[in-house]
Amino acid sequence: MSTPPPLLSRQLHYVCGKGGVGKSVVACALARALVRQGERVLLAQVSAPDSHGPLLGVGVVNAEVREAEPGLFVVDIDPHAAMKEYALLTLKFEALYRTVFENRLTKAFLRFVPSMNELTMQGKIWWHAVEHHYSRIVVDCPSTGHGIKLLRTAQVIADAAPVGPLAEKTKKMAELVRDPTRTAVHIVTLPEELPVNEAHDLVAEVTRTGVAPLGYAVVNQVLGPLFDDQARAALTAVRAHTHDDVALAHLLDVAERRVEREQHERTQRARARDLGLPVIELPYLLQPRLARADIERLASVLQEGA
Ligand SMILES: Nc1ncnc2c1ncn2[C@@H]1O[C@H](COP(=O)(O)OP(=O)(O)OP(=O)(O)O)[C@@H](O)[C@H]1O
Ligand SMILES: [Mg+2]
Repeated sequence: MSTPPPLLSRQLHYVCGKGGVGKSVVACALARALVRQGERVLLAQVSAPDSHGPLLGVGVVNAEVREAEPGLFVVDIDPHAAMKEYALLTLKFEALYRTVFENRLTKAFLRFVPSMNELTMQGKIWWHAVEHHYSRIVVDCPSTGHGIKLLRTAQVIADAAPVGPLAEKTKKMAELVRDPTRTAVHIVTLPEELPVNEAHDLVAEVTRTGVAPLGYAVVNQVLGPLFDDQARAALTAVRAHTHDDVALAHLLDVAERRVEREQHERTQRARARDLGLPVIELPYLLQPRLARADIERLASVLQEGA
């Protein structure tokens, strides 16, 4: 594998992965790592229940772009609200919007383009990138399927509507999304069998469709080993001498489960390295609910791993 571009060097970051693997946590940590580098960052969640606000401790994130703290802008992009807004932004004035979007033929056309919502989200992301001069944009993708759809849409529309003002914009969007010097799709996974399988599927799909350049694999919630060879040998030795001691046997059960878990994790981390992407591992943080201090810790790991 040739040396990958450093994690923090690209302009547009899509954080993808299956539900619940930690996309929002990774997106927030990545945004913070970028801000620490002095970048002007837009962190976008896509029509999600607000997870960024609580994780970053910056109040509610909504459809209004807001500078939550110096250098860090937050927004929730809602596809329905974005649709008209994007058209107005790109077409510039309402009359043309009406002509194009409220025209019977156009409406019929749009029905045949199932990804219009994703297009408008892409449009907003692109518009933010160009108009507001954010040096970095981090998109917390909704889930694997939607994430890919979001990436693919600009190209689909650019191909389907090759003329007119919208076509010009979508073509530029598609170019940005596909440019390996500017864009990266990061795949978040867990050190568990199914999530790693899903990460392999996702990498295969992104590669097959060529929708966007792949970035890093982020293996989230890594426990890390407590038991080295010596400790495992000690466990076996103690087990051999535990006869009627119920309390000790119970503790040994727990320790052995942990050893098994660590073995499983080792196997799955190795499989994650087979994804063919540079890998960054993030530690499992033992907290009932992650908050700002945890995001800062993970941001440091991302900076070190990049
Ligand atoms: N490294 C970590 N250590 C401990 N807990 C974590 C870690 N990463 C994520 N979590 C927790 O796991 C849960 C899922 O994380 P998160 O919300 O980021 O996932 P997601 O992929 O964005 O989920 P969804 O698909 O629902 O948007 C959250 O409760 C979060 O606090
Ligand atoms: Mg999320």
